[in-house]
Amino acid sequence: MRHFLDIADYSTAELEHLIRLAIQLKQEWQSGGNRPALGGKVLGMIFEKPSLRTRVSFDVGMLHLGGHALYLSPAEIGLGKRESTADIARVLSGYVQGIMARVFSHKHILDLAKWSSVPVINGLSDASHPCQAMADMLTLHEHFGHLRGLRIAYVGDTNNVVLSLAQAAARFGCTMSVASPAGYQFSEDAHESLYAMGLDLSVTENAVAAVQDADVIYTDTWTSMGQEAEAEERRKVFPPYQVNDALLAKANRHAVVLHCLPAHRGEEITDAVADGEQSLLFQQAANRLHAQKAILVHLMSENQLHF
Ligand code: CP
Ligand code: NVA
Repeated sequence: MRHFLDIADYSTAELEHLIRLAIQLKQEWQSGGNRPALGGKVLGMIFEKPSLRTRVSFDVGMLHLGGHALYLSPAEIGLGKRESTADIARVLSGYVQGIMARVFSHKHILDLAKWSSVPVINGLSDASHPCQAMADMLTLHEHFGHLRGLRIAYVGDTNNVVLSLAQAAARFGCTMSVASPAGYQFSEDAHESLYAMGLDLSVTENAVAAVQDADVIYTDTWTSMGQEAEAEERRKVFPPYQVNDALLAKANRHAVVLHCLPAHRGEEITDAVADGEQSLLFQQAANRLHAQKAILVHLMSENQLHF
């Protein structure tokens, strides 16, 4: 049984299979609807944090595939508070055929996977957001027709989103340049793990240097969920890392802009860029649905491929 906890757990071949499957499921859906590959199956969705895209796309994805999704709110589940993660995983495994969880501590994802007897999907933790990275790669594949060799510049906080993006870049043969202020750059561990994956990575404090020659400019919030107490401090440090028209003008003319959303318009990205001609933000958000359908089918259907 496979889980989907981190991009780094997957080989290039398996990730390429997921992208092909996502394209196929998207085409199938656009041509009248998906076959019920997950007929009668139920996904339990544990949320410790708010969500629009993750919650709705998993729910709708299960519906399109003939299954059902159950939303379990923070108040109901009380992960590790009302009940231990190990007990929750074992109880849910008796009812549902898959678990998707959005948690504060990545350890909760690992514990769920350890104790669950059904596949567990990471719907965002403090460490990573692998489902987002698959939607990002699907969007770039649709736009450029390939992934290998794409130059991705990420400007902003080195958070969960960019770690998964960088892991995906390594697996799909893209290069990454990351611009962040001192004190907000990749940890030593993250750095080492990305180099170990063979990522062509450059790190700088200079946003302009990072976007030069970039095919893709990506940014995310300066303050992730759970870091709200640091928001004021971060607002002082991050303004030079705003993705605005002036920064975009320094990149390739064909460069596209991505943001996982929600956007804090006027902070990490301006309205002009988010709504501009180079923005793929809403195609990217829509692709959460298709990328995740591939993950769900890969993990939960009867006819699984083994890698
Ligand atoms: N990008 C993303 O995961 O959005 P939500 O927080 O709304 O799920
Ligand atoms: N980095 C953001 C992503 C939200 C989808 C957060 O963790 O809040």
